[in-house]
Formats: sequence, structure tokens, C-alpha cells
Amino acid sequence: MSAAGEPTSGYDEAMGSARIAYRPLSYTDLPQVLSIERRSFSAPWSLGMFLIELSKPSSFAIAAVDGRRLLGYLICSRYDRDWHLMNIAVDPSARRRGIGSGLLEAMLQRGGREARYTLEVRTSNRAAIALYERFGFRSAGVRPRYYADNGEDAIVMWREQPLSSAPSPAGR
Ligand SMILES: CC(C)(COP(=O)(O)OP(=O)(O)OC[C@H]1O[C@@H](n2cnc3c(N)ncnc32)[C@H](O)[C@@H]1OP(=O)(O)O)[C@@H](O)C(=O)NCCC(=O)NCCS
Repeated sequence: MSAAGEPTSGYDEAMGSARIAYRPLSYTDLPQVLSIERRSFSAPWSLGMFLIELSKPSSFAIAAVDGRRLLGYLICSRYDRDWHLMNIAVDPSARRRGIGSGLLEAMLQRGGREARYTLEVRTSNRAAIALYERFGFRSAGVRPRYYADNGEDAIVMWREQPLSSAPSPAGR
């Protein structure tokens, strides 16, 4: 996504020549969002939760589209100085084609590569954890019984840029 929020192109699908575009998610995308959401999560967000997130000036949301078809989305909110990845999902029929990666790449472009990002993920969600680790997120602890639907723990992950200019403590 460009700084102006215009769609960017271009992420080649592994399986073909179709081009996926990444653009701001809008209210008119919400019917397709809810369809993906309900097929992706055991405790899906309601329409009201999406409406609240989209209305926040401190949030941004990104859509991955193939023409008019929504293939995935991501929602990120700013708390104090840090970005919180609130939601990401890809249509089950379009997974493992790089769309989740494209959404995270668009998030870093929009929120800034130097910024700090955090998220919670179910301990059982190996797919998402593997994706986040690829993008530099690291586990920082566990929130016990964070998920109300089944009492599952959440892993808290952070992506922080190393302080490249800071001197490394010698001998430690
Ligand atoms: C997590 C999710 C967004 C990933 O989307 P995606 O488009 O399939 O991700 P990508 O194709 O970009 O995958 C990038 C890498 O992530 C890892 N990954 C993704 N899915 C994986 C899986 N099912 N098992 C293991 N690793 C996986 C792999 O390292 C993969 O690279 P590879 O395909 O070259 O092996 C998708 O699985 C999803 O929507 N899940 C349901 C919703 C969800 O759990 N959201 C996260 C909530 S915290």
C-alpha cells in the first residue's frame, strides 16, 4: 500500500498470474469480511466489532482483493506508541498463496517498519505463529485462559526493531 493509501499491486500468486491488490478495507467490504471471519474463527467477531474498529481514527485496515473478491483482511490499532494487530484472516480457499504475508507486508508499510507491533495468538494456532515468526514476531509470554470460548492460553508476541545504533555490551 502506498503512503497515500492507494492500492498497491502487486503480489504474484504462487499458482498463477492473477495479481492481488492491497488497499484500505471499507465498510462495503464487511459482508465479505464476515463471511471469511465466520469460516476462520471458532469465536468470530460480530459486525459491531468490525464497525467499532473501522471507525477508530487510531486504526487502519487493509483488504487483499482479486478484482471485487475479498481474499483477506487485516486490522491494526494504535495503543500509545505501539501497533496492536487485532485481526487477520485469509479466505480458507486462498491460503498458502502468500496473501497473509502480503497483508503483513502492507501493515509494515502502513504502520512503519521501525514501529513496535504486538498481538495475541492461540497456542494451538501453528499456522499463524509460523507466519508471525517469519515477520520477526517473537513470543514474549503467555496470557493464561485468555480466550473465553475454550479457555485456551494466548501467546503474546512482539515485533521490535533492534536498536542497531546501540553499542553491544561487551563481554555479556
Ligand atoms: C494465519 C493465516 C492468516 C495465514 O494466511 P496465508 O495466506 O495462508 O499465509 P501465507 O500463505 O502468507 O503463509 C506464509 C507462511 O506462514 C506459514 N504458514 C501459513 N500457514 C501455515 C500452516 N497451515 N501450517 C504451517 N505454516 C503455515 C508458512 O511458513 C508459510 O510459508 P510457506 O507457505 O512458504 O510454507 C491463515 O491461515 C488464516 O486466515 N487463518 C485463520 C485465521 C487466523 O488464525 N488468524 C490469526 C489469528 S491470531
